[in-house]
Amino acid sequence: MGATIIVGGFFGDEGKGKIVAHVAHRDKPYIIARGGVGPNAGHTVEKGKEKHGVRMVPSGFIYKDAQLLIGAGVLVDPHVLLREISELGVRDRIGIDFRCPIIEEKHIVEDKGTARLADVIGTTGTGCGPANKDRVMRCARQAKEIDTLKDYTTDVALQVNEALDAGQTVTIEGSQGFGISLFYGTYPFVTSKDTSASQIAADVGVGPTRIDDVIVVYKAFPTRVGAGEFSTEMCPEEAKRLGIEEFGTVTGRPRRIGQWDGKMARYSAMVNGATQVALTGLDKLDLSCKGVTDYDKLSDSVKEFVRKAEQDIGVPITILSTGPEMSETIDLRR
Ligand code: GTP
Ligand code: IMP
Ligand code: MG
Repeated sequence: MGATIIVGGFFGDEGKGKIVAHVAHRDKPYIIARGGVGPNAGHTVEKGKEKHGVRMVPSGFIYKDAQLLIGAGVLVDPHVLLREISELGVRDRIGIDFRCPIIEEKHIVEDKGTARLADVIGTTGTGCGPANKDRVMRCARQAKEIDTLKDYTTDVALQVNEALDAGQTVTIEGSQGFGISLFYGTYPFVTSKDTSASQIAADVGVGPTRIDDVIVVYKAFPTRVGAGEFSTEMCPEEAKRLGIEEFGTVTGRPRRIGQWDGKMARYSAMVNGATQVALTGLDKLDLSCKGVTDYDKLSDSVKEFVRKAEQDIGVPITILSTGPEMSETIDLRR
């Protein structure tokens, strides 16, 4: 097996963390590398009674035998990263690219203190936009200049490509989602970088010819945090009535919730070059499906939803998620 990229097909928070955890335990990768914007992400990973929300460390950390890498494209907040490394006990198996740009206090202050960012766009306030601005202005600092990061810096692109040359399996995780891509999302209500699979490959230094699979993750009820167009959005009362409210991992803000959007799903699969699809939150469609691990045991209405979603997207659905815990999964490729 070569490299597989996992990305979000709606507006982020599709459950990539959960799907990465499942795929990592299934594929047993040698390396799990993270692309994406930076610590604006919050991936939730649940395994048994363990529950974690990670912002910088790859969510694949839950699979204990992989080396964990953060690619040069990703903004690093040293405080967030070092705290997570210590809390998760991954010191001996994590590396970050020496070229990663650094988020400094001034970036966070600018993100939270600029009305356009904080109030109009509704950013996560984690300093990502201002840090990416400094990177484009070529005045951002890099990981190699930061003393507290020196034990972790490495050439991620070289490590990932050498692993692929040696025939090893590499899992590459993205963050955010297609609808908040700087290039393809609902501009200007977007994040500060593209979020599609090609960008995630570039983030970790892997060329497009080396990617075998792109798994795009969708949730049955898409969600969105912050401002911006959301054509299938339902009112909060409806979400409450259906019992499907959600709150952000990083900001704790309530997530806006919508109905399935087949048109958007198809378009994002196209731009991402999806080869497979993972569909999460099936238990939110029908509680009787919570924790089901056997396709035949899904209710008829959920099976019908899956069939329709596959038709909408035009790419095979290979992973179904029936709950947040890692094993609450139906893997149709097994
Ligand atoms: P970003 O990188 O920030 O975009 O996040 P993410 O895609 O990793 O998703 P995040 O963890 O922020 O949000 C997904 C939420 O849905 C988390 O609370 C998960 O625990 C939960 N989740 C994942 N899969 C399922 C599922 O199949 N059913 C239910 N009910 N919840 C799920
Ligand atoms: P920023 O990335 O913090 O600049 O925020 C820009 C927009 O992207 C805001 O609407 C955020 O809510 C959204 N956003 C950024 N990262 C994530 C994520 O990981 N999940 C969901 N929304 C996100
Ligand atoms: Mg999230």
